[in-house]
Amino acid sequence: MGIPTPHIEVSNKDDFAKTVLMPGDPLRAKFIAETFLEDVVQVNSVRNALAYTGTYKGRRISVFGSGMGMPSIGIYSYELFKFYDVENIIRIGSCGAYSDKLNLYDVLLVQDAWSESTYAKVQSGYQESTIEADKDLNNQLATFAGELDIPLTRVRIHSSDVFYRENFTDYEKIRDEEGCMAVEMESFALFANAKVLGKKAACLLTVSDSLVKGEATTSEERQNAFTKMMEIALEMAK
Ligand code: HPA
Repeated sequence: MGIPTPHIEVSNKDDFAKTVLMPGDPLRAKFIAETFLEDVVQVNSVRNALAYTGTYKGRRISVFGSGMGMPSIGIYSYELFKFYDVENIIRIGSCGAYSDKLNLYDVLLVQDAWSESTYAKVQSGYQESTIEADKDLNNQLATFAGELDIPLTRVRIHSSDVFYRENFTDYEKIRDEEGCMAVEMESFALFANAKVLGKKAACLLTVSDSLVKGEATTSEERQNAFTKMMEIALEMAK
């Protein structure tokens, strides 16, 4: 298979920067492009998975809305790594806290993702339940967060296939037995793709709700509050 791919209409590899930020929400990709980037070009709109390439402080970077869940980010990140020569993908997403030590709007740096998902097994025969983020990318992200004076908490997270569980206290077992501090729905598949294809992936998350405390943010609050995480990730522009 070549380019364009079934899900990305770009026919020139150079239209993507080597580093791509992936928020889940395509409108958040648009927000980042309009708020932070210069010389922006919209490069994808297939299925409204909006993607943009521009410059940040004079350095190139792309942003691409991954959609929700492992199947969706699995498709887009695979095509970007494999067919568009993208080297680094940094997911910037939201998560639900499993721990009472985490507060709304805390910014988390994912060390590794635990999942009961079959994504990695089916894709490549990978048998473990945990996959690590890239250490180099994490060290760079931690350095940029320090320079911007934004506190980061390093955690293991749960990548879940299910948002609405009938027995929602199941999370306590996953927290206590697996050591997961928060839940989202994408990182495990992103990290699996990077591992299989010899590329680099990382993930920054902002706490948008707490399963422990029963608190939540509105989608409008999220849009604005997530700028801290975006500013850290944008420093990865090359
Ligand atoms: N569950 C799964 N994914 C999430 C959540 C959640 O509670 N919050 C933000 N992303």
